Amino acid sequence: MADEPWRMPSTVQELAANVQEPPSRYLLPEEERLSDQLAGAEMPEAVPTIDLRRLLASDDGAGEEAAKLRSALQSWGIFLVANHGIETSLMDEVMNASREFFHLPLEEKQKCSNLVDGKRFQVEGYGNDQVKAQDQILDWSDRLNLKVEPQDERNLASWPRHPEHFMDVLLEYTSKSKKIKCIVLRAMARLLELDDDYFLNQFSNRAPVTVRINHYLPCPRPDLVLGFKPHSDDGVLATLLVDSDLCALQVLRDGMWYNVPTKPHALLINVGDFMEVMSNGMFRSPVHRVVASAAKERISLAMFYGLDPEHEIKPAAGLLRDDQPALYKEVKTKDYMAGFYQHFARGTRVIESMKI
Ligand code: OGA
Ligand code: NI
Repeated sequence: MADEPWRMPSTVQELAANVQEPPSRYLLPEEERLSDQLAGAEMPEAVPTIDLRRLLASDDGAGEEAAKLRSALQSWGIFLVANHGIETSLMDEVMNASREFFHLPLEEKQKCSNLVDGKRFQVEGYGNDQVKAQDQILDWSDRLNLKVEPQDERNLASWPRHPEHFMDVLLEYTSKSKKIKCIVLRAMARLLELDDDYFLNQFSNRAPVTVRINHYLPCPRPDLVLGFKPHSDDGVLATLLVDSDLCALQVLRDGMWYNVPTKPHALLINVGDFMEVMSNGMFRSPVHRVVASAAKERISLAMFYGLDPEHEIKPAAGLLRDDQPALYKEVKTKDYMAGFYQHFARGTRVIESMKI
């Protein structure tokens, strides 16, 4: 199995430098290619920006921000946050350190390869999309996946040595991002009239925090490929930093793809599948994708808040009533994740198989 060459495509960086046309394995089926479809529509109402400082205030402003948060969660499942306490300089540093890493020579990056013995994919490390099936359509991007927490599970061999400050900067960003996750999860629990700490209490001190840094390279035929296939995120929620000069992230609603607008130094929050289950479908984990560009590279950094592998993910008991039964089956995080990677490669959603 390990010797089947189709499992080991070259990095997109190498392709981008050498080919005029993306190889067939990257091409979308014709009916999905129609360029107007790939272009995405403008959102009828923009994703709200939630002011976290106002959300935490003890005046009327807090109620207004909470109402905006509710509408964001029920309409898009993705929203922007402002006044979040992460210095713009730190946001720039973590994005620039990521950019510096992706701009290193390939041999240097391959020291952090996501291939074990050059043959078998592991989740962590640098490389391209994991290949699970011969007919899988590959994404026009390279990635760096890292487990940041628990600390004793960091696989240091996958962490960049260059730039030298990469780890320090990423860890500083992690601690700031975590504060935002806590504020948002408390506010979400309050919206559902659950105990404020209901969602936070689901995280043990060994709950994983993982990061995926995506490198979208310019593609000679952006009308034929995707930078990132349609998917919803695993985990409870994710914080997302994106290069703001390229609008490439799209979210699916009622069968239509909408462009997610960006702003300089905006921080996006995306609801994950675990939250959809715990909120019994009140907060949807949106399907999203990234389109390719001919002209520019793009970098994004997603930080995912997962749950302990032994944790049972289930709809909150406080939300269930006779006329409001559980819509999702209970599942252990590790079983969910085993299904997730299989579905992810095919562009389908494991959460569909958990619906009652
Ligand atoms: C992801 C993701 C979006 C982006 O990494 O899961 O959806 O804009 N990234 O790169
Ligand atoms: Ni995603």
